[in-house]
Amino acid sequence: MSQIPREKIDEFEFALYESWVEWFRREPGINGYRRFINQKLVEEMTVIQLVRAAIGRPELMGDPDIYHKMGWIVDWHESSLYRRWFVASRSLGLNGYKLDKKRAELLDSVVGTAKGDIKRGLLLLRTALKYVHTGYRAAAYWANNRHIAQLAYMAYMREEDEIKVVDDALQFMGVARPDRAGMDMLDFNTLVPIFFDFFQPPEAADDGGPKLEAPEWERVATVDELRQLGKKMAVVGLWREVLLVPVDGGVAAYENWCTHERDPLHYGYIQGKQLICLGHHATFDVRTGRVILHPNHGEARVLPKYQVKVEGGVVYVRVPW
Ligand code: FES
Repeated sequence: MSQIPREKIDEFEFALYESWVEWFRREPGINGYRRFINQKLVEEMTVIQLVRAAIGRPELMGDPDIYHKMGWIVDWHESSLYRRWFVASRSLGLNGYKLDKKRAELLDSVVGTAKGDIKRGLLLLRTALKYVHTGYRAAAYWANNRHIAQLAYMAYMREEDEIKVVDDALQFMGVARPDRAGMDMLDFNTLVPIFFDFFQPPEAADDGGPKLEAPEWERVATVDELRQLGKKMAVVGLWREVLLVPVDGGVAAYENWCTHERDPLHYGYIQGKQLICLGHHATFDVRTGRVILHPNHGEARVLPKYQVKVEGGVVYVRVPW
């Protein structure tokens, strides 16, 4: 079984995140948002099935702590799936979704793998969680639909805890440092179609669905100020903390929470083209937000980026809600 190098997975995740962002930028309209919610619900079902496969293994569930935490993942996904489904149904006019045959078969084969080989199952689960949250993170920061953005934000907030739970279980099964282990090619190729299958550019944006007002640009800094300070944190909208950094003659705006364990990035420092978090030294590319070096435990993810413009030496940022 060939292993996928760590950088390949990061590369794939970065591409996935960027393509979701691009998709939201095109303002997919109500049909596009319906498709997004359907896709995410299917992915969450994958997560639930994989955890269930793990719960069926006595050698893993002999540990009360892991047993309890795995149960917590299933409970949370199930209850939140119904809650989100309810909110999405009301706001998007959905009336039920079903798993098509091809995806049901793919899901079965993924769960079958997990049941037969629990270590691979846990690695699959870990990868599934990453992809589920990658889409939610993009939606939380880019969706031009308040309901979707809020639902996505709620889901995104769980990711760190869930991945930790799976890491604990992997270590319990003797897979040391799962964050550096790489993913088996076979598992990777089974999961990717499920997560990319649905992913196509939206049709024409105007499908008669409800529209939100375009969000406002907010003045956050001046270029001179940024040049002097090196970076700046600004609060945009009601409560969003945005980190502003000068890059290649322009300015980039990122979520100010580190994607590792949410330390504030404005406490960190910039060295050349790298932004380094003081928490555990995760290192990001200041131009793109992608991860250059993972922290000294666990892992970081690509930084969510905000829309930014510079006019007459003044920097403006726009957040979706
Ligand atoms: S919180 Fe940033 S590296 Fe850990």
